Amino acid sequence: MSPRKQKELAEGAGSPPRHIAIIMDGNGRWAKKRGLPRTAGHAAGVESFRRAAKYCRRIGVEYLTVYAFSTENWKRPLEEVQAIMGLLKKYLGEALEGLAAEQTRLCFFGDLTALSPELQALCLDCAEKSKNYQGGQVNVCLNYGGRDEIVRAAKKWAAEGCPELTEERFGSYLWSAGVPDPDLLIRPGGETRISNYLLWQMAYTEMVFSDVLWPDFDEREIDKAIEIYHSRNRRYGDVGKQEE
Ligand code: IPE
Ligand code: IPE
Ligand code: MG
Repeated sequence: MSPRKQKELAEGAGSPPRHIAIIMDGNGRWAKKRGLPRTAGHAAGVESFRRAAKYCRRIGVEYLTVYAFSTENWKRPLEEVQAIMGLLKKYLGEALEGLAAEQTRLCFFGDLTALSPELQALCLDCAEKSKNYQGGQVNVCLNYGGRDEIVRAAKKWAAEGCPELTEERFGSYLWSAGVPDPDLLIRPGGETRISNYLLWQMAYTEMVFSDVLWPDFDEREIDKAIEIYHSRNRRYGDVGKQEE
């Protein structure tokens, strides 16, 4: 889609962003504040994700992309990594009913082969069984890194014998092939960086950073972020809307 067309769509009166990306950050600090282990923060983070996905679906967001585990998160203590993988297993084991009820497709961005065979099977099963639902799409970024995604795309292109390359064609080699670029990035948790997230896709994404920790990031906080998004003038390098 051309930037101009994207802009027109994004400016549709009161319409929600078509695609929201979220960096679900702050679980550990949320737990620490309560004297709980970091893993309790991750468990609360999963609940916050369920709530956010349901809400985004309700307000008509077509694509929701969440950062669940980065290529850098393997650096964390083994027990924490194992706890996160355990939570993912639990979530995916329970996800099918909800996906059917909400008619939501579940997709994954990232190299799943680094995960346990059981977790890989759950991911593939959820993706396969939900692939024809028409109510919206949730992309879970798992063992995902923006640079890793770009390098893999370049390798796929090279393996095809380096055909004539355009931006559009390059995008077709990414995990996000076929998904429009995010309109809005939300990062809760107080950090103002993108931590290797959707580097290619966020060329013109509006970014909203919040100090609220992810487990506390409820529907009201999503509304606030969308309100900020609507107050922005997306120029895409053009002169944009001129004030009278
Ligand atoms: C985000 O919360 C979850 C993952 C990275 C898996 P954190 O665990 O990074 O929480 P903080 O940033 O330490 O508070
Ligand atoms: C980004 O959060 C990754 C996820 C939320 C999955 P991090 O907590 O890993 O990011 P940094 O380390 O603060 O940049
Ligand atoms: Mg963090």
